[in-house]
Amino acid sequence: MCGIVGYTGKQECTDILINALSKLEYRGYDSAGIAVFENGCIEVEKSQGRLKNLVDKMDKGHKPVGVCGIGHTRWATHGEPSDVNSHPHGNKRVTIVHNGIIENYNEIKALLVKNGYVFESQTDTETVAKLLDFYYTGEPVDTIIKVIGEIRGSYALGILFADFPDTIFAVRKDSPLIIGKGKGENFIASDVPAILKYTKDYYLLESDEIAVIKPDEITFCDVHKNEIKKELQRADWDEDAAEKGGYAHFMLKEIHEQPTALKTTITPRVMDGMPFLEECGITVSMLEKVKNIFIVACGTAMHAGLVGKYIIERLARVSVTVDIASEFRYRNPIMGEDDLVILISQSGETADTKAVLQMAKERRTTTVSVVNVKGSSIARESDYVIYTHAGPEIAVASTKAYSVQLSVMYLFAFELAFAKGAINEDKVKELTKDLMNVPKVVEDTMNTMEDCQKIASKLVNSTSLLYIGRGLDYALSMEGSLKLKEISYIHSESYAAGELKHGTISLVTSDMPVIAIVTQKDLMEKTISNIKEVKARDGKVIVITQEDIEIDKEAYDYIIKVPAFNDLFMPIISSVVVQFISYYTAVLKGCDPDKPRNLAKSVTVE
Ligand code: AGP
Ligand code: GLU
Repeated sequence: MCGIVGYTGKQECTDILINALSKLEYRGYDSAGIAVFENGCIEVEKSQGRLKNLVDKMDKGHKPVGVCGIGHTRWATHGEPSDVNSHPHGNKRVTIVHNGIIENYNEIKALLVKNGYVFESQTDTETVAKLLDFYYTGEPVDTIIKVIGEIRGSYALGILFADFPDTIFAVRKDSPLIIGKGKGENFIASDVPAILKYTKDYYLLESDEIAVIKPDEITFCDVHKNEIKKELQRADWDEDAAEKGGYAHFMLKEIHEQPTALKTTITPRVMDGMPFLEECGITVSMLEKVKNIFIVACGTAMHAGLVGKYIIERLARVSVTVDIASEFRYRNPIMGEDDLVILISQSGETADTKAVLQMAKERRTTTVSVVNVKGSSIARESDYVIYTHAGPEIAVASTKAYSVQLSVMYLFAFELAFAKGAINEDKVKELTKDLMNVPKVVEDTMNTMEDCQKIASKLVNSTSLLYIGRGLDYALSMEGSLKLKEISYIHSESYAAGELKHGTISLVTSDMPVIAIVTQKDLMEKTISNIKEVKARDGKVIVITQEDIEIDKEAYDYIIKVPAFNDLFMPIISSVVVQFISYYTAVLKGCDPDKPRNLAKSVTVE
């Protein structure tokens, strides 16, 4: 939620801030704004809506000129998206950008109003800007320490004090922030892609640390003003990785990147034909002792966990529970020291998933995270981390992050099954070999693109549809349904095929398309009976299946066939089809698949 950036150096910075914000727009696009020191004064320009509105506004009006500034792209939490609620907030003395939520903002507001402050916006952020002004003594770090002692909630703040026209002050708690180090110029940003054009070197700011950033110097201290030395990190993503590279949308590019992302994630985790998670600290002797597994995540990452459950239980015979993080954290689950919590998160910053990590730590349950963003909070704070190497995922709808999360679930399941003695070495090697062939099969599945476009043209006028499947197909249908609704705004539900007749089949009419995933040979006859029940009620059926599965023509209206392969891996392979169907339906409806309404990529609030 919200992207913040900052630049201090020798170059004219307005365009740099805009460019950096364009890389963070996936974090929110309710409004955009910048504050730049122009002739020693803080000049603010902001506008409701996408970054382009701000650029147009500045082109027609005033474009600040200066070499030090901050910027913001917003996902509103407090106060509607509007010009006045846009960041930066503050006055001529202190101006801030904020990512997070200030929980006690009403209390602070009351104190400030009593002291004569007048509020313009409905945001929680404005209270922090005014509180900084209220306590300002001429010494910014002291003021920041005083203020963070009084605010509650989550924040990453970029702060300008008029008395320090070449300096950005930054502090964070529970919202991410990195400090980019260039030559004679430095940066702040919510995420690495924002600075890749300028530098690959950065520091990770921890909670309750304060950074003072000047063109030639970056210093860090804690809340007692003790200096902190930090290790410089180096991004291993190229700038190109965060560009569209000729594709119409990031989502389409990211769908096509899956074969490479899968290869990059799987290859380093295979040694002598066996899964090799030792580089992440996960050993056979550690896995031998695991009793129960809890997989906890949100959205698409949780759907990856559902596939994980099926394969872990099937192969390793270890009991797995999959939960939505926002539910799990409040349901007082029964987990102990012999259990294992697996947290899956693309961003590594999702607030609910992070909260579950803390909860597991308090209960001394071992935590393994499956994370895409290097150095993110969940990755750093879990006992073990298995990085997925998808590269930056910019589109709000997760695609390549999902398939690589699945590949890690498979590797983990094989290793665990071996550790538990549930399958022998030969079988593990056979499965691992198949997994290594999956990227190639996924590449071949890209050929379904045109068929998916045709299906999209059939769905575009629907207002509601159902996704059904059994077993692994059901797990994937959950993801297919979410993908479709989040970017095309067509209402969609996913149902276990066998459950339809217990209520939901009453919704089926000729206006209600049903997408049935039928890739699991052991369950296909049963699913086919279910789709025939739908056909008998005049429903329109679209089947997704494997090339070598024959389905009676009476049972469907349209069919998409993916290359035939080992059934176990079908969720990775067929995910391409559900992604294409969603993408093309959204595009045909005129929706922006990269930036669906009301959503943001990284959900750092509860
Ligand atoms: C996916 O398309 C969604 N936008 C969303 O469900 C996402 O997967 C979820 O918010 C979890 O994010 P994370 O993987 O960064 O934790
Ligand atoms: N709470 C702030 C606002 O609504 C920042 C939002 C966020 O970071 O998600 O403007």
